[in-house]
Amino acid sequence: MLHTHPHGKDVLRDITSTTDLPNGVRMPRLGLGTYRSAQGGEVEAAVKAALDLGYRSIDTASLYGNEEGIGRAVAESGLPREEVFVTSKVGNNEQGYDSALQALARSLRHLRTGYLDLYLIHWPQPQTPESWQMTLETWRAMERAYAEGSVRAIGVCNFLENHLERLAQASETRPMVNQYEFHPWLQQPSLGSYCDAHGIVTEAWAPVMKGRAAEVPELVLIAETHRKSPAQVAIRWILQHGMTTIPKSVHRERLAENADVFDFELSGEEMAAIDLLDRGARFGPHPDGGGAR
Ligand SMILES: NC(=O)c1ccc[n+]([C@@H]2O[C@H](COP(=O)([O-])OP(=O)(O)OC[C@H]3O[C@@H](n4cnc5c(N)ncnc54)[C@H](OP(=O)(O)O)[C@@H]3O)[C@@H](O)[C@H]2O)c1
Repeated sequence: MLHTHPHGKDVLRDITSTTDLPNGVRMPRLGLGTYRSAQGGEVEAAVKAALDLGYRSIDTASLYGNEEGIGRAVAESGLPREEVFVTSKVGNNEQGYDSALQALARSLRHLRTGYLDLYLIHWPQPQTPESWQMTLETWRAMERAYAEGSVRAIGVCNFLENHLERLAQASETRPMVNQYEFHPWLQQPSLGSYCDAHGIVTEAWAPVMKGRAAEVPELVLIAETHRKSPAQVAIRWILQHGMTTIPKSVHRERLAENADVFDFELSGEEMAAIDLLDRGARFGPHPDGGGAR
């Protein structure tokens, strides 16, 4: 059985719905992904359109090279900074204590903000004892940034259970969020259960299967029943499992489509049918390799 987070569908009202992080910070259930949204006009237009449509959470990373465009779009939206939940990540080549703190300072400058709502380690580096040590030092830098108030919450991405266990043995603080690849073809149920058992909020990346949800006949069928799209069914399934998620698009009509998932509900049978589609298939690299470089 796939896990269902205790904060499941009962708090799913609309795009402003949030989940509580372990420290009480409220994180929107649905946000905007920006991987491959190009710096400059493309990412700026996407973020402005998303904010206009009601999105209040933006996910980026230093690796994406688009933080400046996002910073500009958020600043020009006229929304008070505290109404937008901004996430960024420390990149693989920025890991280490000093260099993670420098990376955070850079991200803050690019994003034109005094604080991040969530700062994540982009990929664990478990390949060698030395690289893992660097990840632990990165985590210590995140703990310091959190204590100093330049980030409201800290977490990780792409950590498997053994990475989370090893981090717990070396540190007092648990990550508040684990953002990992999750969609009908890759569900990693025991990782979700582990996170739930330890109060770690789970966030799905590649929620619309990199644009390939329409290739899945079961999603197409369920979508027809609800007069929704396969992408909307995939997002709704993730939300009903209690996870947060961040579908990416640079097209206004798809941004609207991906946010229009609060007026229908998947039945228990439909949820179970999608749970059965797990085939352990990744779009991204396996975390044991340390991610993309
Ligand atoms: N922590 C990590 O290691 C990690 C790794 C990967 C991603 N992420 C984050 O998670 C976000 C989401 O993941 P992702 O971008 O890899 O994959 P995704 O959101 O599943 O898919 C994005 C792709 O699907 C297309 N698309 C979006 N909505 C659609 C719809 N309704 N119908 C058809 N096609 C649609 C987009 O094209 P258009 O833009 O042309 O509409 C884009 O090509 C990223 O943007 C990033 O913020 C994190």
